[in-house]
Amino acid sequence: MPEPIPATLIPGDGIGPEVSGAVVEVLDALGRPFAWDVQQGGMAAIAAGGDPLPAATLESIRRTRLALKGPLTTPVGGGFRSVNVRLREEFQLYANLRPARTLMPGGRYENIDLVIVRENLEGLYVAFEHFIPVGDDPHAVAISSGVNTRDGARRIAEFAFDYALRNGRRKVTIVHKANVLKALTGVFLETAREVGEKYAGRVAMDDRIVDACAMQLVLNPWQFDVIVTTNLFGDILSDQAAGLVGGLGMAPGANIGAKAAIFEAVHGSAPDIAGKGIANPTSLLLAAGLMLEHAGLAPLRARLEAAIDAVLNQDRVRTGDLGGTASTRDFTQAILGRLAT
Ligand code: NAI
Ligand code: MG
Repeated sequence: MPEPIPATLIPGDGIGPEVSGAVVEVLDALGRPFAWDVQQGGMAAIAAGGDPLPAATLESIRRTRLALKGPLTTPVGGGFRSVNVRLREEFQLYANLRPARTLMPGGRYENIDLVIVRENLEGLYVAFEHFIPVGDDPHAVAISSGVNTRDGARRIAEFAFDYALRNGRRKVTIVHKANVLKALTGVFLETAREVGEKYAGRVAMDDRIVDACAMQLVLNPWQFDVIVTTNLFGDILSDQAAGLVGGLGMAPGANIGAKAAIFEAVHGSAPDIAGKGIANPTSLLLAAGLMLEHAGLAPLRARLEAAIDAVLNQDRVRTGDLGGTASTRDFTQAILGRLAT
C-alpha cells in the first residue's frame, strides 16, 4: 500500500458520525488509503465556534483537495447559507455525479445502472430572485433569473463525455427544455451537442426534453446510460434515479471541480434515527468508493463494492431501511468480515 493520501473528513450531523465512523473502519480494513484530517461542519461546527463552515475546514479542503462529508443539518431560518452551496461555490464544484445502480434484486426495477451528471453551479440555482409588490401584497409577483454560460455548459458536457469514455459507457443523453426555455437551456443543448460531436464514434449522443425524460425513466430506465443536464433538472432527476434503485440509503454523490472533489451520501442527517445506531452506512460507503476511484484507487473501490454486494445479497445482513434488522455495527462488522476473507 502506498502512502495514505491526505483527505479531509467532515463527520457531519445527526447520523453523520455513525455512518462516517463505519466508513473509516471499513477503509482502514482496505489498507487505510486516506490520511484523515477531521474537521467540523454543520451544527457541530456552529456549536464549536458559531460558523457552520469554519475557516479551518475550508483551509483543510484547500490543502487536501479531497473530502468525504457526512450529512449536515441545515438550520431552518437564521442567517445561515447552505454549507453545501458554499462548498460548491468556494471550490467551484461544477459537476455533481450521481450514479444509480441496483444493488439488491427484488426491488421495483432490476439491473438499473445509470449515471446522472448534474451541472452544479449555474442555471436557476444562482437564485437571482426578487419580488415586485403590488398594492398591499409585497409578494404579488416573484421573479427569478437563471444563468447558463457557454463555458459552464462546455465544462459539464466535457466532464460527462469524458466520464462516459473513461468508464466504458456507451451513450450520453443531454436533457433540456430548449423548446420553451430557448435561451437558458438552448445554449446548454447547443453547446453540449458541440462537445458530443467530438466524441462521435466513441460515445453515442442523444437528447431528451426533461418532462419526457422523467416519464421514460419510469417506463424504461434501461435506455439511459449517462444523463447530462442543468442544475434544477439534475437535482430532480437524480433523486428520481435514486428512487429507481431503492432510495436514499443506496445513493452516493460526488461533487467535482477544478480545485477539489467532495464526496457524500445523498441522504441527510436523519434526525429521527440519529444516535440509535441503526443508520444504513451504504450510501456513504458507496461515496467513499467514488472517492477511491477519483484518487486512482479503482481496485479498492471494486473490493469495497464486492463486499457490500456480498453482505446485502449473500449474508443478507440489512439495516431497517432495507427491511432488515441489522444495526449499523452489525452491518459494518459484516463488511469487515467479507473484506477479511
Ligand atoms: P434525510 O435524508 O435526513 O431523511 C429522510 C428519511 O430517510 C428519514 O426517515 C431518515 O431516517 C431516512 N434515512 C436517511 N438516511 C438514512 C440512512 N443512512 N439509513 C437509514 N435511514 C435513513 O432527509 P430530511 O429528514 O429531509 O433532512 C434532515 C436534515 O438533513 C435537514 O436538516 C436537511 O437540510 C439535511 N440534509 C442534508 C444533506 C446533505 O448534507 N448533503 C442532504 C439532504 C438533507
Ligand atoms: Mg436534491
